Parts: sequence; C-alpha cells; structure tokens
Amino acid sequence: MSARVLLNPGREKSLLRRHPWIFSKAIKKVIGKPVLGETVDVFDSQGKWLAKGAFSPNSQIRIRVWSFIQKEEVNGQFFLDKIKSAQNLRQHTIAEANLTGYRLVAGESDGLPGVTIDVYENIISCQLLSAGAEYNRHLIINALETLYPEHSIYDRSDVEVRKKEGLELTRGWIKAPSDNSPVATIQEHDVKIEVNVETGHKTGFYLDQRDSRRAAGRYAKGKSILNCFSYTGTFSLHCAKHGAKKVVNVDVSDTAIELSKKNLQLNDISEEQVEHVQADVFKLLRKYREQGTRFDMVILDPPKFAESKAQLNGACRGYKDINMLAMQLLKPNGILLTFSCSGLMEASLFQKVVADAAVDAKRQARIIERLQQASDHPIATNFPEGYYLKGLICQVD
Ligand SMILES: C[S@@+](CC[C@H](N)C(=O)[O-])C[C@H]1O[C@@H](n2cnc3c(N)ncnc32)[C@H](O)[C@@H]1O
Repeated sequence: MSARVLLNPGREKSLLRRHPWIFSKAIKKVIGKPVLGETVDVFDSQGKWLAKGAFSPNSQIRIRVWSFIQKEEVNGQFFLDKIKSAQNLRQHTIAEANLTGYRLVAGESDGLPGVTIDVYENIISCQLLSAGAEYNRHLIINALETLYPEHSIYDRSDVEVRKKEGLELTRGWIKAPSDNSPVATIQEHDVKIEVNVETGHKTGFYLDQRDSRRAAGRYAKGKSILNCFSYTGTFSLHCAKHGAKKVVNVDVSDTAIELSKKNLQLNDISEEQVEHVQADVFKLLRKYREQGTRFDMVILDPPKFAESKAQLNGACRGYKDINMLAMQLLKPNGILLTFSCSGLMEASLFQKVVADAAVDAKRQARIIERLQQASDHPIATNFPEGYYLKGLICQVD
C-alpha cells in the first residue's frame, strides 16, 4: 500500500481546481515512509481522497500530482497513455507547420509534472526534472521506445533545478544512434535548422519561438534588422527567406554563432545578407546609439532574467533598459519584436515595462500583435504557470 499524506484544513482548495502542486506547508502528516519520487495518496483533513502524486521530500513543492482519479495506477500503461495523448494533441501542429522538430511533452501542461520531451528529427531529447519523473524514468523511456522505435534517445537532465529535488544532474545517450551523432536537422516551415542535443541550450533548441519566428518573417521584407540574443540565428533565417535586406545577429556565445553560420549555409543564405557580431547586447545597443546606427526592425529575445520572485525587480530594469535602447535604435515607423520568457513576469507587467521603456526612449509605441509560446507548448488552464513566453510586436513612430 502506498504512503498516505494528509493535508491541513482548507489546503485542498487548489487540488479541487486540479492544480498539480502541493507545497510543504499544506501538509499535516505523512503516514508511511515514501522514498524520493514514490507515488503517495493525498487526503484532505477530513480523510477524503483527493489525488495521487510523486513525493519529493527535499522540495518546497512536496508533491506533484500524477492523477486525480483514484483507481488510476501510475504504471507503464499510464505513461504510455499520457504520451500518446500528448502526441495526438500535436498532430495538427506537426502537419500544418511541416515540422520535424516539436515538443512532445510539456510537463504539467500534459499531465506529466517535471517531464519535458522534445523530438528533433530522429532524436528524442528529454529532461526528467522532478523526483517523480526520475523515479519512473524506466517507464517513461519504455513508453518512448514503444512509440518511437526508430528514434534514438538523449538525456538532457543536466538542469540545476534537479538539485532542489535532491537529484544529481545527468546527461548522455539512453539509446544512441549508430553514428553516435548528437546532431539533427529539423524543418520549421520553410527553414532548416541544425540542432545539437548534446551542446545546445535546453534540450538542444528553442522550439517555443517557432510562431514568433514566422511572424518576424512577415514583417521582414526589404528591412534592415537587428536580431539581439540571436542564438543559432533562426529568427534571421525566417527574415532572410522573406526578403530582409540585411540582418545583424548578436549573441555572446561563439558556439551559437558558429552554428548560426552553418544554418545560413543549410538554407542557402549568404553572410552578406546575415552577418554576425559576437557581443554583449547591453553594450552593443549603447554603442550603436552613440554611433547613430539605426534599423527598421529590432528583435529582442533575451534569456530568462528572473529565476525567482526576488529577482523580478532587477529583471524589470533589465527588460526596460534593452527595450528603451532598442526603440532608440529604430528608424521612424520601425518594428520592435520583444519577448520575455520569465514565467514570473506576467504579461500585464511585461507590457507595462515596454510602455515605461517607450516613455524613456521618448517614442510612441503601439502594440500591433501579441505572441506566445507555440502550440506544442500548451498552457493547461489548471496550471497557469505554464504560460511563460510572452511577446509583443510594436510599431514605433
Ligand atoms: C532565449 S535565447 C535566444 C533564442 C533565439 N532567439 C532562438 O529563437 O533560437 C537567449 C540567447 O541570448 C544569449 N545571451 C545571453 N546573454 C547575452 C548578452 N548579455 N548579450 C548577448 N547575448 C546574450 C545566449 O547565448 C542565448 O543564445
């Protein structure tokens, strides 16, 4: 029999709304001795069964719910069914966008807390970030092997957040391809992108910005474009394919820039049309401002500035700074594509920061489109934390 966890009075409310996290303070008593990641049954203070989830004794999020159905077993069939339904959810996206790279499982939003699974052509790259995901690793991998028998599988669970769960960081092949190559070439609309699952960011690539990259392409024709935080240059591939006059990619990472140059070759785009600058965006934007260098369009896709609530104020300052500078670099009637991937920064706050930036830049900005993470990164309504990536397209007078 599995261990039983009793909640404090009134602490069942979020579970009744099917939110999948139970914080340590909500727990009154643990009956039994569950090991790290083991499935436990959760009851309200009156002894009524509520849910079953993975126990994580080291984390503030003490339990992550697998199921709200009492008779559902958390076994091989459970993971197979969850991954199959995640697959079904994505069928139209894959077909419509001509994709060979997509997020197959987006953690809590697909009912699998702590599990991220991305498909890059014939390589599956996964992150098991919670104690429960790790405890059930073999069942998750078995399910993937059943559903994707031809694919190799790479483990990118080398993320710091595992330490909060009492887990070590892991990385490497679970099922290696015959040539041992960690490189895949994915198709995204009419663009080809090389992804390295061993050295790339996250599971290898930023699949979540697919729709925004396409949107950038729609505005690109005939424009001079500054693509800040360009990583492997994929915003620029879409812009160049759609007739941009000139694009400048800026990133601090030399390996990202190397891969960006390879992506140009893959897509028959010249280094005259898309050039690279290895620099700190904060410094380069100031330098361009001083030099009087101006652009028709600026893209700002920075890394996460806020990892915790304590960092939110500092993050706002950082976003305001780059947005102000970007607006100052825009020619009249310029286009700004600006993003925040900090989940803690709500959409309304991000919009306010961009508004403040416009005031400081002494420019009139108008929001003409709102963007968010692509549809293979769904936002379950019972898990609003799943909404992390926000974007605005602004026209700046
Ligand atoms: C969110 S990723 C960009 C993803 C990219 N736009 C795409 O669609 O694939 C952020 C990038 O910012 C780069 N970066 C982080 N801090 C930077 C800085 N201060 N200046 C320039 N690049 C930076 C990282 O190397 C990383 O490639």
